Amino acid sequence: MNGTASPQWLRQQAELTLHRVLPRLEARFTGVSAAEWQPFEARLRGNFERLFILLHHLYGNRYDFFYHLEQILETAARLYLARPADLKALDAARESDTTWFQSQQMLGGVCYVDLFAGNLAGLREKLPYLKELGLTYLHLMPLFKAPEGENDGGYAVSSYREVDPKLGTMAELSDLAGELRREGISLTVDFVFNHTSDEHAWARRAQAGDEEYADFYYIYPDRTIPDAYERTLREIFPEARSGSFTYRPDVGKWVWTTFYSFQWDLNYGNPAVFRAMLEEMLSLANAGVEVLRLDAVAFIWKQMGTSCENLPEAHMIIQAYNALARIAAPALLFKSEAIVHPDEVARYISPQECQLSYNPLLMALLWESLATREVRLLQHSMSERFRITPGCAWVNYVRVHDDIGWTFDDTAANRLGINGYDHRRFLNSFYTGRFGGSFSRGLPFMENPRTGDARISGTCASLAGLEKALRGQDNGEIELAVRRILLIHSVILSIGGIPLIYLGDEVGTLNDYSYRNDPAKAADSRWVHRPFTDWSRVDQRRDSGSLPGRIYGRLHRLIEVRRANAALAGGNMQVVDPGNSHVFAYVRQGGEDRVLILCNFSEHEQRVAANVVRASGLSYTFRDLVTGDDVELKEELLLAPYQFAWLVAK
Ligand code: GLC
Ligand code: GLC
Repeated sequence: MNGTASPQWLRQQAELTLHRVLPRLEARFTGVSAAEWQPFEARLRGNFERLFILLHHLYGNRYDFFYHLEQILETAARLYLARPADLKALDAARESDTTWFQSQQMLGGVCYVDLFAGNLAGLREKLPYLKELGLTYLHLMPLFKAPEGENDGGYAVSSYREVDPKLGTMAELSDLAGELRREGISLTVDFVFNHTSDEHAWARRAQAGDEEYADFYYIYPDRTIPDAYERTLREIFPEARSGSFTYRPDVGKWVWTTFYSFQWDLNYGNPAVFRAMLEEMLSLANAGVEVLRLDAVAFIWKQMGTSCENLPEAHMIIQAYNALARIAAPALLFKSEAIVHPDEVARYISPQECQLSYNPLLMALLWESLATREVRLLQHSMSERFRITPGCAWVNYVRVHDDIGWTFDDTAANRLGINGYDHRRFLNSFYTGRFGGSFSRGLPFMENPRTGDARISGTCASLAGLEKALRGQDNGEIELAVRRILLIHSVILSIGGIPLIYLGDEVGTLNDYSYRNDPAKAADSRWVHRPFTDWSRVDQRRDSGSLPGRIYGRLHRLIEVRRANAALAGGNMQVVDPGNSHVFAYVRQGGEDRVLILCNFSEHEQRVAANVVRASGLSYTFRDLVTGDDVELKEELLLAPYQFAWLVAK
């Protein structure tokens, strides 16, 4: 790292370097027409200064910095030139409409290809269903070559260029991307860039003693350095192994493995790693991937004496990749997967870093509010932390393929008299169903006996009470569970950003405990909420008497209402205090359109004073977009158990 250079000196060096490097680059790609080269050169000129400053900060103290810089630019140019024409056209379109993803038409879905439809060909056949649901964004979970057996749900990648042969081929993936695009659906895949599997070619070479590739990872001959690091590290997967390093008897060395032992952390301190992963990243973009979900962003830079999470250099790496994407594949967007403290989550979000980000705080607090029937922490946190950098968007979700962690801010909780530690214990006990009276049927994930910490696994429906209610054959409870499912989905569909549905949740999929019989999955409770799609369930979706139909029908209507209302575009949202601690309320505004949204998080009727509704809804008379009916508003507005209302002026 090089922290001493002044900004002015850096700008001068950037200019000089570009001047030197451009002709060398052009000389490497002879025979390229001026028309083809010109957009690349323009984008390079437009982004070079910031790219240079970032790379100089990361790698500028190396004697071979210029060499690596040139290699990085060569990679960008080569992959730009290889980019198919339709994607280059998409680049131009997106450059002139940089906030296309702010539209209220946006709706995301996420699934595992094999669990959803067997393979890529099967997935293609399900396109009509995805269209019917209204998706415009489809996240396919890791689908690349990975070790047989345990592979962390594909998050241990053995080759970023090969689709898992059981699912299909790279050519099929890029055909699918094109087909999705023609249907208005942007393909998202993971960029698992913090680590590779121990079977990746680089890891294999490192295992064989190749020094060049050993330097791609963090490998140590004994415990001295691992011990020194571990003094300040948090354990991410404590059930898998204690500590963050794994001893490899085959090489007689210790390897840094933040997650599972077969996931080897990449060493971004080495610019060759940065370049090699750039090539993988741009290759995915050239296959037609429009959004890359940057996996485990928090962990990509290590420095002794720190937690090795969310370090400034982690941001610089992502920003440098962002700059290179603007140069070589500008249609590409990044979505940050930072499931960390909300202040840290926010730091990854900017047009120059990740344009999209999961919103783990909203996710956790929706469940927190369902458990407590109180919205104080949700209301307080969303009024402080929902605002997002212009040009960016939240991806709002109720759950994904991972566990639910209680990543709220303890200071905010304290202000409301809530003790964070105790509250997390309560939430874990509530969602594992251990707490008396809990409606929930979740499982603990990565319980750490040393810290008392745990996270929660479970499908939306099982966590929301459907599993328990069905087992008890209690129709009243079943209806309440259905309403909880719809309530939290109503928030992600209306609060601002891209709503993301874990496919299956729209028909009330329950936990599937069969993972316990599979040795490759049994130790990881997240598999309980990653079942095979039950298509007979999906087929009942139009039968309003069936349970899937009761959920799907109401959810689908909400999706349509959302699509039709420009007030729900963008991320502008204002929290309203409705004077009732069970009701979460906010206003969405877009141009002339305004929607006041009220959500009752309790199983009892709640009242909100009419003057609050009028003052925040800016009208005397209202219509509810959800029911389509006019609203009776006398002294008070009455909300039924778990009812949500989307009010517009009549
Ligand atoms: C991300 C993924 C998670 C995986 C981890 C390690 O957090 O979402 O499923 O276990 O990264 O790759
Ligand atoms: C994965 C884990 C989650 C952890 C996160 C850290 O998502 O599943 O529990 O907190 O990684 O990024």
